[in-house]
Amino acid sequence: MIKIAPSILSADFADLGREVQKVQSADWLHVDVMDGMFVSNISIGVPVVKSLRKATDMFLDVHLMIEKPVRYIDAFADAGADLLSVHLESDMPPGIKAALEAMDRRGVKKGIVLRPITAAEAVLPYIKDVDLILVMTVEPGFGGQKFMADQLPKIAAIRRYINEYNPDCRLEVDGGVDPNTAPLVIEAGADVLVAGSAVYGAADPAAAIKTLRGE
Ligand code: DX5
Ligand code: ZN
Repeated sequence: MIKIAPSILSADFADLGREVQKVQSADWLHVDVMDGMFVSNISIGVPVVKSLRKATDMFLDVHLMIEKPVRYIDAFADAGADLLSVHLESDMPPGIKAALEAMDRRGVKKGIVLRPITAAEAVLPYIKDVDLILVMTVEPGFGGQKFMADQLPKIAAIRRYINEYNPDCRLEVDGGVDPNTAPLVIEAGADVLVAGSAVYGAADPAAAIKTLRGE
């Protein structure tokens, strides 16, 4: 079953409560946290996640694009995140392991993320221990970029690893997902699709969500 996770990065931050209501028919809410260091952009942080938690029962899928994310796992867990995902490039392996252990202690679902440059094999030390692997199909930092089709073989390779080592693990794809590229990532094995501009840029976000699901 394919899940759709609208990214609020493309929403109107001055009217976030209403923007969340618009995507109630989706499965998860994708929240992009950026620190201006790991990526050049700065977006939102802990207080916004806390407010979102009060505004919706949707599953909060929080994508951390921050250096040394282990420093903030407790704060985002306290704020009400359901899943936290950390970039494999954002710390040395012991720091990534420590972040995943902190999520375990807090009962938060655990995700790891790969930038486009990072190879599929990088997931192998973690795959048995995570709930989600997120493959970026744009350089992280901004919404509205062009989908990188050269990431499709990597998605397929990670799908094969998941089937072999941890079949319950979700495979999420983020960046440039729209009605044209969604079938390609589903075909490659993704089962959670993040979409920012394709949902919030649409005249009818609920219809856009249906289209992305292939309905
Ligand atoms: C980019 C973010 C994405 C972004 C996707 O760094 O991780 O979640 O919002 O936006 P679209 O769907 O417009 O590419
Ligand atoms: Zn994201």
